[in-house]
Amino acid sequence: MIKTILVTGGTGYIGSHACLELLEAGFDVVVVDNLSNSKSDSLSRIEEMTGREIQFHLADLRDEKAMKDLFDGEQIDAVMHFAGLKAVGESTEIPVTYYQNNIGGTANLLQAMAAYGVKNIVFSSSCTVYGAPETLPLREDFPLHAVNPYGQTKLTIEYMLRDLAASDPDWNISILRYFNPVGAHRSGEIGEDPLGIPNNLMPYITKVAVGELEELAVYGDDYDTPDGSCVRDYLHVVDLARGHINALKKLDDNPGLIIHNLGTGRGYSVLDVIHAFEKATGKPVPHRIVGRRPGDASAVYADPSLAEQELGWKAKRGIDEMCVDALRWQQQNPKGY
Ligand code: NAD
Ligand code: UD1
Repeated sequence: MIKTILVTGGTGYIGSHACLELLEAGFDVVVVDNLSNSKSDSLSRIEEMTGREIQFHLADLRDEKAMKDLFDGEQIDAVMHFAGLKAVGESTEIPVTYYQNNIGGTANLLQAMAAYGVKNIVFSSSCTVYGAPETLPLREDFPLHAVNPYGQTKLTIEYMLRDLAASDPDWNISILRYFNPVGAHRSGEIGEDPLGIPNNLMPYITKVAVGELEELAVYGDDYDTPDGSCVRDYLHVVDLARGHINALKKLDDNPGLIIHNLGTGRGYSVLDVIHAFEKATGKPVPHRIVGRRPGDASAVYADPSLAEQELGWKAKRGIDEMCVDALRWQQQNPKGY
């Protein structure tokens, strides 16, 4: 029985929501994070909310000795592996850092797991592994193709995990390909806390809505979509976190390597999101159409049916809840953690 989970990147946006869901589902949680893109306050808040303790290790996955010490001192049954660098633009500027951190860190983690006989892992992949999609909705068996260094790291890790599963039937590996996670826990206690000016749509919208940023730039209205702005599959981060619990429970059946999309299956354009946000929250979002952002695909959304069939998971929260929860987090934490 899987009981104690090592959550890598557990102080970050998605990892912190996963920690909360894990504790609420009765698992014990150990976190490792180097705090390169997060603060440990997220964990203190989760401890306060749940009345449960989280063992926190401030360490880098690339540090072999630190990983050995961690596995020496803790009894880990499975790993949820969120730790990684995730900014697409930055990955084109410092690609080797991305390869070293994401691929090197994962390789080191897997070696430590193998050495300690921990062979259950859930990995955070991304819909970016489908590249620029030609057919929609995206199914797990579609061709894979990286279009930037960040995506290449996700794809390489997927291949590494596939090879690992083929080499040893004791490994149970769940690869989850996330679409666009947004929103925050409804308490407003944990959420997305980007450093500096956000790159992603929803955190930018919430900062415009509270007046911290002047207006949103909509990157293009000349795409081949109903209103010309790009379409994405936004999913609530709490639904996403819960999908990890389903995947984790599935590992108990010794499935070997399994791969699932986590999305809602529904696409919203940038203008749809702005309108939904304004309607759900009553806050205007001043915006202006500008040119396209290089590298953006016109439309990306999931076929999430495999996750429903095999994991019993389906996204429950709609766009209104995503917007309201994102804004609540922003309002309650104007400066982040
Ligand atoms: P995040 O930056 O909030 O969390 C990642 C965490 O990993 C951070 O706390 C960071 O400090 C930590 N970290 C990075 N490198 C590390 C290392 N070498 N050793 C230890 N800790 C390290 O990002 P997030 O949005 O929570 O994303 C979590 C995972 O999900 C990432 O792997 C990301 O690529 C993937 N993902 C995210 C999205 C998204 O839209 N947020 C979409 C698809 C996939
Ligand atoms: C991006 C990454 C993706 C990564 C995800 C999470 C790219 C090409 N893709 O997804 O690999 O997994 O972030 O980190 O970078 N938009 C605006 N104005 C803004 C911000 C965004 O119009 O200020 C638009 C974008 O053009 C896009 C949509 O909003 O159409 C969503 O953008 P974003 O939140 O950055 O996510 P993705 O680009 O889908």
